[in-house]
Formats: sequence, C-alpha cells, structure tokens
Amino acid sequence: MSDQPTDQPLAGKVALVTGGSRGIGRAIAEVLAADGATVAVHYGSNREAADEVVAIITGKGGKAFAVGADLSKKAAAQALFAELDQNLQSLTGSTKFDILVNNAGIAPFVSFADTTEDVLDQIYAVNFRSLYMVTQEALKRLNDGGRIISTSSILARIPVTALPAYSALKASIDNLSKALAVELGPRGITVNVVAPGNIDTDMNAFAADPNTKAWALSKQALQRVGKADDVADVVAFLAGPRSRWVTGQVIEAGGGSGLTF
Ligand SMILES: NC(=O)c1ccc[n+]([C@@H]2O[C@H](COP(=O)([O-])OP(=O)(O)OC[C@H]3O[C@@H](n4cnc5c(N)ncnc54)[C@H](OP(=O)(O)O)[C@@H]3O)[C@@H](O)[C@H]2O)c1
Repeated sequence: MSDQPTDQPLAGKVALVTGGSRGIGRAIAEVLAADGATVAVHYGSNREAADEVVAIITGKGGKAFAVGADLSKKAAAQALFAELDQNLQSLTGSTKFDILVNNAGIAPFVSFADTTEDVLDQIYAVNFRSLYMVTQEALKRLNDGGRIISTSSILARIPVTALPAYSALKASIDNLSKALAVELGPRGITVNVVAPGNIDTDMNAFAADPNTKAWALSKQALQRVGKADDVADVVAFLAGPRSRWVTGQVIEAGGGSGLTF
C-alpha cells in the first residue's frame, strides 16, 4: 500500500523551476508551492516578474525566492546554482533539493532556410544546452527519490516547418530524459517530460489571431486553447508521490493535439 497523499504532498520538499517567472513556469511554481514545496523561481532577465511570482506565493502562505541566470550564456548553470546554493544554505542549512523542473525556453519563428548559425546557437543554448548543464549541476545536489521534469513540446512528435530547430531540440529533450531515467533509476529519481500543446502564454501570443486559433483548434480533440495551469497540474502530478512508478515518459498536455490525420 502506498503512502497516503495529503493535500500538501510536497511539504518539506524544495523545487527549482527554470523560467518560473512567466507563463507555464509561473503556473508550475505556483502549483508546486500550493502543494507545499519551497520553490526557487528562476528568471532570465525579468527579475520583476519573478519577484511578482514570489510575492503571490508568499502572500498565500507559501515559500519561494527568486534566482536569476541568463541561460543563453555559457556557465549559466554554475551561476544559477551558486545563487541557489546560497539561498538554500541560509534557508534550510543545506544545498540539497528534491525537484528540478527544466522549463525555460524560447521559440523564435524561423524557417529552415532562414536559420542562421547565431539563431541556431541561441535556440540550442536556451532550450537544450542549458537544460543539460542545469541537470548535470542539479544532480550533485538532488536528493535520492527526487524528480526531474522537463517541458518539451508536442512539436517534438509532430514538427512544424515554422519552428524546425525548436521542434528538433524539443525531441532531443524527450530522448535525453529516457537515458537519464535509466541512469538515475538506482537512485530512485524519476525523469519525465511534459509536452504542452497550444498554451496561452507570452510565447504563444501570435495564437490569439482568430485564423491561427481556428487552425490550432482544428488539430485538437478538446476545443479550447490550453492554459498554463493545464500543464502545471501535470507537472505537479509528476512531482508528487502519486507518480512514483512513472519514469522515462513523455506526457502530452495538449488537449489531444495531432491524434489523427
Ligand atoms: N506556450 C506554448 O504554447 C508552449 C507549447 C509547447 C511548449 N512550450 C514550452 O514551455 C516552456 C515555457 O514556455 P512559455 O510559453 O511559458 O514561455 P514564456 O511565457 O515566453 O516564458 C518563458 C520563460 O523562460 C525564461 N527564459 C527565456 N529565455 C531565457 C534565457 N535566455 N535565460 C533564462 N531564462 C529564459 C523566461 O524568463 P524571463 O521572464 O526572465 O524572460 C520565462 O520565465 C518552454 O520551454 C516552451 O518551449 C510552450
């Protein structure tokens, strides 16, 4: 028989959410905090937005603090963890934590033909290299029995020609997570991916256009645009005790996108 989940299944746990300042990451930070975790809300350049998330969480009686690092830069993971270590040390007396959510990302619209080396490097650096290096640093501090959850995309399975590099690098996250799940199984650490579909955030502002919206809905089973919370709740499940036997999986949160021809 499993442990009985409580209404605060993450009480006593510490989580880091990259890109927690806005959009999907913000909703993830808020739901993990509501579930009892102390949350490090990471931001790239928008400290104000991260502070706002921290204020919302602490205003509801939760625990959170902001950490900044521009993940497009080399050695960003070390910079992020230097700040995280300092915060955690003074808060908990240890640099250990339990839940890593790799969520930060960018999605510049650029066709295959127009993708310059610089643009490709930028997409790679933020969406894949940083995730790889942040996870590497995290593993020096993650408790056994911990959780790694990464935000991929349904475009990893069904790429679009407007985002070829983005789609391919999201597929790399899915692939890497399976290898890590096997490597970290002996430590009881689960590694999973949540792949959002069309979600209403800053990144996806273009999708508010009526024609784009109609096109997107024509590809979905459920007939509305997704919200950040729709993804965050899946992440909360994967972060909590009820997902204990789930690892190496990609779970799509896309309202049933691209299920049929
Ligand atoms: N929205 C969708 O429809 C959708 C669909 C599939 C997958 N996704 C994925 O879901 C994740 C979150 O997307 P979103 O829609 O919530 O995007 P968003 O609203 O644009 O938020 C992006 C987040 O990533 C951070 N970030 C961006 N560039 C960064 C950098 N160079 N260094 C550090 N942090 C950086 C931002 O930090 P600042 O606030 O500091 O800028 C922000 O917190 C991404 O991985 C995205 O690819 C989104």
